[in-house]
Amino acid sequence: NLEQSLIDGITSAADETELESLRVSALGKKGAISERMKTLGGMAPEERKTAGAELNALKDKITEALSARKSALQAKTLEARLVTEKVDVTLPARPEAQGSIHPVSQVWEEVVQIWGDLGFSVAEGPHIENDFYNFTALNIPPEHPARQEHDTFYLQPKADGSRMLLRTHTSPVQIRSMLESKPPIRIIAPGRTFRSDSDQTHTPMFHQIEGLVIDEETHLGHLKWALAEFCKAFFEIDDVKMRFRASHFPFTEPSMEIDINCSWEGGQVKIGEGSSWLEILGSGMVHPSVIKAGGLDPERYQGWAFGMGLDRIAMLKYGIPDLRAFFEADLRWLRHYGFRS
Ligand code: PHE
Repeated sequence: NLEQSLIDGITSAADETELESLRVSALGKKGAISERMKTLGGMAPEERKTAGAELNALKDKITEALSARKSALQAKTLEARLVTEKVDVTLPARPEAQGSIHPVSQVWEEVVQIWGDLGFSVAEGPHIENDFYNFTALNIPPEHPARQEHDTFYLQPKADGSRMLLRTHTSPVQIRSMLESKPPIRIIAPGRTFRSDSDQTHTPMFHQIEGLVIDEETHLGHLKWALAEFCKAFFEIDDVKMRFRASHFPFTEPSMEIDINCSWEGGQVKIGEGSSWLEILGSGMVHPSVIKAGGLDPERYQGWAFGMGLDRIAMLKYGIPDLRAFFEADLRWLRHYGFRS
């Protein structure tokens, strides 16, 4: 009979689509039950009463069977998904592209850390400087021959004829620090510097780190000690020989360049051994005119300063041969020389 065949169909429906078409074929507008409902109109009242009641009961049964089967099918689907979509948390992670720390950033951090331990804080200045901070205040007045050595990048002249420039060294931060704070001053200023120069050891943009100490009694002995401590910590050697070579900078008097001893083996430089010398920085006692330009009394204050090439000491410490490669963003180079965080 109809009831039995409908119930059989419903209980054996394999999925929700099949179930839905069964529902339509039974209860839809043209479904078997609906068609029978239509015949009620032509029946005698008594007959209609019993047939109607039977049909309604059948309709309820079928509706119930449909929803029971629907729940069962949904539970089965969920079950299947839970089994197949299970996350295995013990699987190894998928490999992901990972960046690395650029040697300049790495060395920058190391240097800041070491001078931080020695009581120095970090100072900053702008890349675009004016003539006063980059030159004049540093005892390099207009027409001074030292200006020629700096291969300066100038910006377009302003209305008044003055030209801004890209700082050629981090020394302008000396002046800014003196004008901004009161002694004792102990700062380092790592940052970008610019000169119109390019070969295997020069790039138009490079990095320096400036150091400045201003106090009432600080002297050359402090400079020597602090730089020796820095070299030992940075190059991770107990015994680094340093050579203080007389030199000249307009902003320091006396001035000296500092060399450290090293050896060359198979094109590879080793710091702290051997009898070769490598220049790593310029330094000296701050010139009284510079202290004055910094708004301080040179009768009361004195100080020392140094400037070192950050890229250069990175090359030395990590054995990187070509400076230009630092700024070419070649992924193979970065993978080789970069640091994992
Ligand atoms: N500014 C100098 C340079 O760029 C380095 C230096 C800094 C020398 C401080 C002495 C004192 O070469």
